[in-house]
Amino acid sequence: MTATLETPAAVSDLDAAVTLSGVRKVFGHGPAGVVALDGVDLKVAPGEFVCLLGASGCGKSTLLNLVAGLDAPTSGTIELTTSRPAVMFQEAALMPWLTAARNVELPLRLAGLKRGERREKAGELLSLVRLVGAGHKRPHELSGGMRQRVALARALASTMGSAEEGTPGLLLMDEPFAALDAITRDVLQAELVRVWRETSTAIVFVTHDVREAVRLGQRVVLLSSRPGRVVREWSTVDCDEPAVIEDITSHLREVISGHAAA
Ligand SMILES: Nc1ncnc2c1ncn2[C@@H]1O[C@H](COP(=O)(O)OP(=O)(O)OP(=O)(O)O)[C@@H](O)[C@H]1O
Ligand SMILES: [Mg+2]
Repeated sequence: MTATLETPAAVSDLDAAVTLSGVRKVFGHGPAGVVALDGVDLKVAPGEFVCLLGASGCGKSTLLNLVAGLDAPTSGTIELTTSRPAVMFQEAALMPWLTAARNVELPLRLAGLKRGERREKAGELLSLVRLVGAGHKRPHELSGGMRQRVALARALASTMGSAEEGTPGLLLMDEPFAALDAITRDVLQAELVRVWRETSTAIVFVTHDVREAVRLGQRVVLLSSRPGRVVREWSTVDCDEPAVIEDITSHLREVISGHAAA
């Protein structure tokens, strides 16, 4: 295996928070092996909000897991100049026996913060995601949307907990709002953008939803169907939203129908 996960990145990549070069991921071996990703090149700037789109099974979650360090690429390199990335999935995955506040405190505790400091930070984060007053509740007492807010606060705590002074954070999100109703999803999208503006965290956000990608991201990256690689990118800063949404949708459709025909 030639993969490396190194911090800090090479001097030429000083500007990038995340640099993927020629990333390939094969699950299994021989003829039965599945090539999930092949030749993925991608850079994310510090503080940038990038959305990843692609057909189901094209390797989006695989890519996120590799950047998170939860799995290693078969070949190619992934370099991070950020603190240890925080990950947020479709399911909140909270500890059911801990209150909301204790769930948020957990990464701070693992990072060795003292109790007073943890309490204070967790309180700040719960207020950031508008959950003041819900800190004493356990996950089963919260709605799905509230649980995702706790998960967001915990993910932010985990970027904080591992951050050294001046090191930018990185938040990896895999369809975090997919299971929510449209209204709750709208609220959380707006909150995520607000939280992103208030922190200097770079975000890589996986979604199936073109509108969500254009609304949230500064850049939308489209992956081809298996094996996944970057086929096209759009800047969505000050763009003509309806036109970009239409263009991305037609390219996504092509990618999906190509996949179905393959
Ligand atoms: N642990 C694994 N072992 C074997 N194959 C895997 C494993 N994880 C993913 N794959 C395969 O790799 C490919 C990419 O999967 P991945 O979960 O990354 O897709 P995805 O783009 O996130 O899809 P979706 O949009 O449905 O979530 C799929 O063909 C999947 O079956
Ligand atoms: Mg996935």
